[in-house]
Amino acid sequence: MFTAAVITVSDRSHQGERPDEGGPRVQALLEANGYQVIHRRIVPDEIEAIEEALIQASDVLDIPLIVTTGGTGFAPRDVTPEATIGICHKLVPGIPEAMRSASLQITPRAMLSRAAAGIRSRSLIVNLPGSPKAAEENLRAVIGALDHGLVMLRGQPMNCAELS
Ligand code: MTE
Repeated sequence: MFTAAVITVSDRSHQGERPDEGGPRVQALLEANGYQVIHRRIVPDEIEAIEEALIQASDVLDIPLIVTTGGTGFAPRDVTPEATIGICHKLVPGIPEAMRSASLQITPRAMLSRAAAGIRSRSLIVNLPGSPKAAEENLRAVIGALDHGLVMLRGQPMNCAELS
């Protein structure tokens, strides 16, 4: 089992003006697919705040899978992909390609998500759109392939059988 972090990027949720619905939805889908979510944060739509949250989850907490939701669109303050690309060491374009390809079967607006994915040190970072429905649809499209990538990145995760 790999551990995961969920970072919600939203000015309004960060200020307490809107409940964070996307974060719990993403957490539930990750847990249903065998990930253990050990870290959740809500940050505003600011490059420095997003970068700091990603670097903390990667470099300090060493979490294998870091998923963001929000800030991938065209609004002036949507900067999650820029923050992600800025701190990643390698990009993984196939993940957002697959998310947009699958999502285009649902809505033509899928092409408006600028989501990115990449590797920083031993962590895979994946951006998702902000609406809970869109976040879930995008994550569903790729979640089945992520564990193989994480095994290549880090080796097999420890599980209970190995510990006993
Ligand atoms: N992808 C799926 N699967 N379903 C959706 O409803 N909405 C799109 C797109 N991707 C959507 C989707 C829309 S309308 C936008 S603006 C972008 O995601 C970016 O969303 P964000 O700005 O909330 O990150």
